[in-house]
Amino acid sequence: MALDRELTDVLSESKKFYPPSAQLRKNANVPDYEKMLKQAAKNPLKFWEEAAHDLHWFKDWDKTFEDKKKPFYKWFVNGKINLAYNALDRHMGTPVEKKLAIIFEDETGVERKFTYKQLYHEVNKLVNALRGLGVRKGDRVAIYMPNIPEIAMAMLACAKIGAMHSVVYAGFSAKALADRINDAKAKVLFTADGSFRRGKVIDLKSIVDEALKETKTIKKVIVTKNNKQKIKFNKRRDVWYKDFVKGQSTEAKCAQMDAEDPAFVLYTSGTTSKPKGVIHVHGGYATGVLRTIKWVFDLKGDEVFWCTADPGWITGHSYIVYGPLLAGVTTLQYEGMPDIPKPDRIWKVVEKYKVNVLYTAPTLIRAMMKYGTAWPKKHKMPSLKILGSVGEPINPEAWKWYYTHVGKRRCPIMDTWWQTETGMNMITPLPSASLKAGSACKPFPGIIADVVDKKGKSVPVGKGGYLIIKNQWPSMIRTIYNNPKRYIKTYWSQVKGAYFAGDVAFKDKDGYFWIQGRTDDVLKVAGHRIGTAEVESSFVAHPSVVEAGVIGVPDPIKGEVIVAFIILNQRAKPSDELKQELKMQVRKGIGPLAVIKDIKFVDKLPKTRSGKIMRRVLKAKELGLPLGDTSSLV
Ligand code: PRX
Repeated sequence: MALDRELTDVLSESKKFYPPSAQLRKNANVPDYEKMLKQAAKNPLKFWEEAAHDLHWFKDWDKTFEDKKKPFYKWFVNGKINLAYNALDRHMGTPVEKKLAIIFEDETGVERKFTYKQLYHEVNKLVNALRGLGVRKGDRVAIYMPNIPEIAMAMLACAKIGAMHSVVYAGFSAKALADRINDAKAKVLFTADGSFRRGKVIDLKSIVDEALKETKTIKKVIVTKNNKQKIKFNKRRDVWYKDFVKGQSTEAKCAQMDAEDPAFVLYTSGTTSKPKGVIHVHGGYATGVLRTIKWVFDLKGDEVFWCTADPGWITGHSYIVYGPLLAGVTTLQYEGMPDIPKPDRIWKVVEKYKVNVLYTAPTLIRAMMKYGTAWPKKHKMPSLKILGSVGEPINPEAWKWYYTHVGKRRCPIMDTWWQTETGMNMITPLPSASLKAGSACKPFPGIIADVVDKKGKSVPVGKGGYLIIKNQWPSMIRTIYNNPKRYIKTYWSQVKGAYFAGDVAFKDKDGYFWIQGRTDDVLKVAGHRIGTAEVESSFVAHPSVVEAGVIGVPDPIKGEVIVAFIILNQRAKPSDELKQELKMQVRKGIGPLAVIKDIKFVDKLPKTRSGKIMRRVLKAKELGLPLGDTSSLV
């Protein structure tokens, strides 16, 4: 694979190190990054076994790892555990119970706080109420909520019962929500009246009402009052959250789950128009998330941890809800935009709540850069000790801005590469590492990764190739819900015996990984994962559209935005109105997160002989790049 332009740009950065301060190294949970990597590599199973001992197990496992039915790997075989028990119950009776578990603030300034004990009681009430509804181990519960404490409560209550939650990001459309509810056959749905965005209220409940016209399995909708707007209420089906938990006991029994029992399903985009339901399990997921959050962000137990993602994505699952609570630290939930009412809202929140770790996305950093350095300059933010980045490659310019103006050259940046499927940070520095601006550094201890060619052979230093993980890890995806064949095909069929990540990367001479982006037809728009096939199928659902080809093009803030090439039927006339209508069509099919930058009406799409759209060719033409190998083009 040839080096592309961006790759050549970052190559110059690969020569410069940002070493950790002596103070930081001395106090770090892992004082010597390179030494730890070597140590863990000697025996990854032992490493993970030790990590699992940080959790409470109702019954110890018989075997750490089993690969009898590859690639359906098992971890901590016959161990009994519960993810929610480890996040809450086990802290009771310890000093952690008095600590703040959640600090919440919304865009309008409303603030709410919950200690661990209070959160434990709230979750137990919900557990009892859900059990009263008949929710049992193995059932699926859908959650379509803003980033408010009740979303965490709903997730934890499901996990405590052993029901699988399926959180659907509240920026998805009614159709996308309905599809996910139907795939999982969810019985219950959690939602809210609305959410805040840029001073506007988003009417979530009416999106839910529309989605439920297309579903048959939801028996009850539990609605949190979040912004007191008027909503339609179906008395037989809907219940206010407050009424639902009223009078319930604040104690509840925790289900003892098998380590390999599914904890949740989380849908993510792939190369077809149907999202994949990624399954994570109680034992391995808890192990991976706890070990990474403690080591990558150097948690000692007293931190305020702010991950600016949304609980609707894996980052929110692992590092807003479960990770911080497993580690017994305070998680901050902020509902709204980071620049409302002024561009320093984000820095104000950091200062107000004395945030120690800020974990955010390159797209947000770039949006803040646009406002200029004066805004972070106004805030000293002395509480900050570690910064994090996730979701897409961070360009060196954004990295340096974040390092200089937010971290004030004091705070190392943990650029964490991982995926919905991996459950936890996979390629990442630790605070004791020497950093490079724009590199995710090396694989986390216990993880073996490589960059290879199509045949699975390691490519030379500086050469681009496919990113693979050569061993297994506890928090790995177990299967795709109801589709084990797709699980095998997507992840385990490209390179023999290895997990195929779907990313392009290169390694430099120091063994540092530089992730370049996806190799497949998955886009990253503002860090959100969207499949080109999903967008295309939304376009094609419009009566005027015969065929659609969609590509991602670079955007200075969002990383990537969508450009669509559309073939109209003979009756339709190309017009700006039609473009607008088609954009709305995608909004209806997927949601506002699928930002369409441009629509181009064309007569023909480049295709292979087998009829596959060659998006690569569309992209090269759009960006004025060489077309590459077009021998299979018809
Ligand atoms: O392309 C990689 C990119 O995000 C993809 C995974 O997306 P998702 O499952 O939505 O999870 C996002 C948050 C974990 C990856 O295949 N990606 C994620 N983190 C990084 C990244 N690309 C470069 N650098 C990162 N730090």
